[in-house]
Amino acid sequence: LNKVIGIHPIAAVAPDAVETLLDRAFGPDRHGRTAYRMRAGTSPIPALSFAALDADGALLGTLQSWPVELAGDDGSVVPMTMVGPVAVEPAVQQSGIGQQLMQALMDAAAGERMIMIGDPEYYGRFFGFSADATAGWRVDGPVERRRLLAHLPAGTDMPLDGAIRPRTNARFAQSERIA
Ligand SMILES: CC(C)(COP(=O)(O)OP(=O)(O)OC[C@H]1O[C@@H](n2cnc3c(N)ncnc32)[C@H](O)[C@@H]1OP(=O)(O)O)[C@@H](O)C(=O)NCCC(=O)NCCS
Repeated sequence: LNKVIGIHPIAAVAPDAVETLLDRAFGPDRHGRTAYRMRAGTSPIPALSFAALDADGALLGTLQSWPVELAGDDGSVVPMTMVGPVAVEPAVQQSGIGQQLMQALMDAAAGERMIMIGDPEYYGRFFGFSADATAGWRVDGPVERRRLLAHLPAGTDMPLDGAIRPRTNARFAQSERIA
């Protein structure tokens, strides 16, 4: 593998190649996870989804972001960006690729309200994500509370309690389904 890594829009790679990498990083049973249910029915946000390629064009890592929203128990609905999966080819993990992908996201997503399920020891340590705001946020499936992380612009006021759900254009159809 060539050591020079470039970060590109995820549109630079074939969707099949992304799926194959995700299977290798997380296992083929990944689709039932809570993180997948939280954004079910949405498509990745092109400007906030990235591929790490080596100089020969081999796919070494991916990061996808999705449109979700926090439906507050107070009636407010706050759009959020759900980050993940972040996946690095197992053979080249621990060489900085995950951090390069995340840095590309943080640069492109300045001002976004972000949520993800991930290890605070990684996403907190390097990128300032934390579970502080998320204690009262419900998700569709089991989650370790310490791994439900948010990254919010300074001074952002978020509902304390509410439900994270996919953000689709069919808002009415969706609230009927949840009701
Ligand atoms: C998690 C992942 C995205 C990190 O990317 P990476 O390119 O391997 O890691 P980086 O090179 O950017 O960072 C390495 C540093 O982060 C630390 N680190 C890596 N993964 C970590 C984790 N899950 N928790 C805590 N620390 C972690 C390493 O110890 C290392 O720290 P050091 O520099 O002090 O030695 C990648 O390993 C991956 O895809 N793993 C498989 C999927 C997975 O297990 N995801 C976990 C939850 S989403």
